[in-house]
Amino acid sequence: AASTRYEAESATISQGSVAANHTGYSGTGFVDYTNVTGSYVQWSVSVAGAGSAGLVLRYANGTSVNRPMDISVNGTVVSAGKAFNGTGSWDTWADGTLTVTLNAGANTIRATATTANGGPNVDHLTV
Ligand code: GCU
Repeated sequence: AASTRYEAESATISQGSVAANHTGYSGTGFVDYTNVTGSYVQWSVSVAGAGSAGLVLRYANGTSVNRPMDISVNGTVVSAGKAFNGTGSWDTWADGTLTVTLNAGANTIRATATTANGGPNVDHLTV
């Protein structure tokens, strides 16, 4: 099926802010995670049928240090400390991918920073 893009700047943000001070993002900006453990972006994603779905998190990390995040689906961590390694600059975006199981209808997907550096900058999620 065709994928749907869910912008981070339109999602629920805890300990982060919408920013647009780098280039190459989609929509009107991206989320700059606060540099703390536990900062997150949470999306509500709707799919027609239950089953396996590919997630793509578009992100930038202008440091040389991994900014891992826990990825949860409907409250369960399905990828603990998933790596979001440096992309070379804050203007260079890369895809973090994983496959998850979704319910028919609404699903909650959250990406939570697990270190005091916070998350990478996050542009969008596609499902
Ligand atoms: C820089 C950069 C931000 C980024 C931040 C960080 O300030 O401009 O976009 O979010 O570093 O380290 O998280």
